[in-house]
Amino acid sequence: MSQQKLYYFDNNATTRVAPEVVEAMLPFLTEFWGNASSAYQFGHQVKRHLDDARAKVAALINADPKEIVFTSCGTESNNAAIHSALALHPGRRHLITTAVEHSANIKYGEFLQRRGYEVTYLPVESDGSIDLHVLDQSIRPDTAVVSIMWANNETGVVFPIEEIAAICRSKNVPFHTDAVQTPGKLKLDVKSTGVDFLSLSAHKLHAPKGIGMLYVKRKTKFQPFVIGGHQERGRRGGTENIPYIVGFGRAAELAMATLDDENTRVRALRDRLEQTILKTIPNTVRNGAKEPRLPNTSNIAFDFVEAEAVLMMLDQLSICASSGSACTTGSVDPSHVLTAMNLSPMRARGSVRFSLGIYNTAEEVDYLLGQLPGIISKLRAISPLNTAHPDNDKFDLKAARKKHNEASAQSHSSQDAVTA
Ligand SMILES: Cc1ncc(COP(=O)(O)O)c(C=O)c1O
Repeated sequence: MSQQKLYYFDNNATTRVAPEVVEAMLPFLTEFWGNASSAYQFGHQVKRHLDDARAKVAALINADPKEIVFTSCGTESNNAAIHSALALHPGRRHLITTAVEHSANIKYGEFLQRRGYEVTYLPVESDGSIDLHVLDQSIRPDTAVVSIMWANNETGVVFPIEEIAAICRSKNVPFHTDAVQTPGKLKLDVKSTGVDFLSLSAHKLHAPKGIGMLYVKRKTKFQPFVIGGHQERGRRGGTENIPYIVGFGRAAELAMATLDDENTRVRALRDRLEQTILKTIPNTVRNGAKEPRLPNTSNIAFDFVEAEAVLMMLDQLSICASSGSACTTGSVDPSHVLTAMNLSPMRARGSVRFSLGIYNTAEEVDYLLGQLPGIISKLRAISPLNTAHPDNDKFDLKAARKKHNEASAQSHSSQDAVTA
């Protein structure tokens, strides 16, 4: 592993584990490794720390600790909420989500469709927002659950969760929200928003990967997804991962403490990055509404280039960013989020997401801004997509395209998931 300085602008994919989190976790890997369910003191001691972490995670979303179910990740939390709602309403075979959800929902929806359920994927407007009237019209007597993300991981666009919850409540349909991208960026309050289920994933807030949580509103019936022991008040089997849960608790405290920094300093860095790109690099456009939006996320289309090529060149300079593209059988599919927003395939393929975080500095943004214009103009000069390029008739467009696809495929095989 290289020790080179990393310019990390991919905080929506995952975040660096905070030193405070590592410090909080260590004793539970070395000294206090007991099982929280054990009947002796060594187990009770660990259980007290489990309770303490649960209270901290609950405080992050203004929930009661009893409403928190620890899971393995955000994906499991989303699957578990939907699974529970369907299992408890066997007569209801319809669910609603959106076309711009994370694959944790989209793929689970497709899985359910293969089992005979009907899934409505709500469309979005060109700025990534949803039409609440369409949601209202889509809810049917046989709708078992509505699952809509709080904020989009690719564009940062924030959905009106309180209004969505109110619509679902008025129709007596449980509402789940995937809030994985929100901690430390938005103020979260399950009481005032009135959601029934909410998912979080610890690795998006400076804790390790492999730990998540599902908020289950008090008195909401719940059918476990992972069936086994009596852990988590019978709502999720499996011995609790104490070091990671303790880390999650510490990270939740930090997320509340850094909310201001994210909304002032990080927002200003993001805005400077975005405005400078849009002003100084021609044929660029922001994808998604300017507001309401996560303060750290900027998704920009660079016309006439392939995002994969931009990312490869950034990678050579130790700059990490991402695209929402998915590589299937050697060709690069444009992001389903940008496609749902009706971007042309060319524009969607040329879109790059920059997601900042509390560890980013002004110098890092300067470095990125110093490198990016050169990369874009180099790529545009040779781009077969650049129909306006005066030399384009000299290119063998087919061959250039093939070569580029091969290079993209090669980079993808070593780097499977581009977006998270
Ligand atoms: C919006 C959203 N939902 C769900 C997930 C999945 O979370 P996890 O990686 O913890 O399974 C992610 C991130 O990958 C995400 O961005």
